[in-house]
Amino acid sequence: MLGKNTGSLSGKRIILGISAGIAAYKCAELTRRLIEQGAKVRVVMTDSAKEFISPLTMQALSGHPVSEHLFDPAAEASMGHIELAKWADLVLIAPATADILARITAGMGNDLLTTLCLATQAPIAVAPAMNQQMYQAVATQENLATLTRRGYLIWGPAYGEQACGDIGPGRMLEASGLLSCVETHFSKKDLTEISFLLTAGPTQEAIDPVRYLTNKSSGRMGYAIAQAAAQRGAKVTLISGPVALETPENVFRIDVESAEEMHAAVQTHAKDHEIFIACAAVADFKAADIATQKVKKKESLNEITLTLIKNPDIVASVASMTKNRPFTVGFAAETQHLEAHAQKKRIQKNLDLICANDVSRNDQGFNSHQNALHLYWDTGNKPLPLNDKTELAKQLINEIITLYKKAK
Ligand code: PMT
Repeated sequence: MLGKNTGSLSGKRIILGISAGIAAYKCAELTRRLIEQGAKVRVVMTDSAKEFISPLTMQALSGHPVSEHLFDPAAEASMGHIELAKWADLVLIAPATADILARITAGMGNDLLTTLCLATQAPIAVAPAMNQQMYQAVATQENLATLTRRGYLIWGPAYGEQACGDIGPGRMLEASGLLSCVETHFSKKDLTEISFLLTAGPTQEAIDPVRYLTNKSSGRMGYAIAQAAAQRGAKVTLISGPVALETPENVFRIDVESAEEMHAAVQTHAKDHEIFIACAAVADFKAADIATQKVKKKESLNEITLTLIKNPDIVASVASMTKNRPFTVGFAAETQHLEAHAQKKRIQKNLDLICANDVSRNDQGFNSHQNALHLYWDTGNKPLPLNDKTELAKQLINEIITLYKKAK
């Protein structure tokens, strides 16, 4: 748990405006996570939003009464709507329905939330959330274009399955995605001159048209590192194996499946980046022959043999570049003798830094939300204790930047 003075949003004052969308339930988690990062949150709800999430829930999570009405003498006596508008460092409307987008575009002030938008000088961000047809409607698109022109920040929406069963754009970003947008908005952009190339996730090595070899990597560690670098203004290219994660804001993502494809993509881009971080769990071996048709079971056979051949070592190929070699960071996923195995990989692959993780435990490493790393470089080492991958990634970026600057 982060302290209020140590989080990435320490002291930032955020008005969370909730309008009437099914995605309002995500605001509970969002509020909790904003506060965990040190933000002060005041919640404003439209009348109909209360049909989707209760003001009591939001009061309990934010630690303050929810503001609901424009003409509420009690609320005006404590913090009136103009004062509230002046208090904010950011107004975030999430979910932002088609209706609230239309009303703020028209400059209406017929409830507390729309009035706040007119009265505040703080940046205003909207997180659209609606049926895909409503999102794509000309009126909504024109409203969003107008708001963009006026300097509003538009965060999302994501593409996917909707509450009504439709599939398309219009899903509100998850709480983690919105938190990341808020963090990016407030973060110091001190890495604009540095570009990162990353690999993340597993690779899939085909056996036949419907089967493949893979591993348990979720991609979370690599995506968190990409996000941490992008939040500080770095140019980030993320070469990703198949994962079920949203692309972090301001990250250019290239999707691949096999180690060969990942290798080819890395070869193309490595020379254009200052730092390469190989976080992907790349399959060391692939099938010697990929069957063109589905391999059939034969009743007469109790076993079959699959011949595997070596995949290219992607991180070693980058580390051995003779021209425009990026500062090269590898990972070591170990189940025993962490230091000895990691150091051996660092030396054999000629890495500037290796990040060792113990993947024998269920609560860290592969497919978990947490991890712990031990960093080794030629003249030193440093543990980064168990933490949420998002937090750990921020610490790792700090360490990488320090070593990269020393090596330059
Ligand atoms: O994705 P998550 O669920 O969040 O889990 C994170 C993680 C455990 C996958 C991550 O923290 C991690 O350890 N990634 C590296 C996994 C791995 O393949 O480790 P390794 O010790 O087998 O490989 C050593 C290094 O060589 C790695 O940087 C790897 O990317 C690289 N490698 C390996 C084989 C190969 N053919 N090419 C490579 O570039």
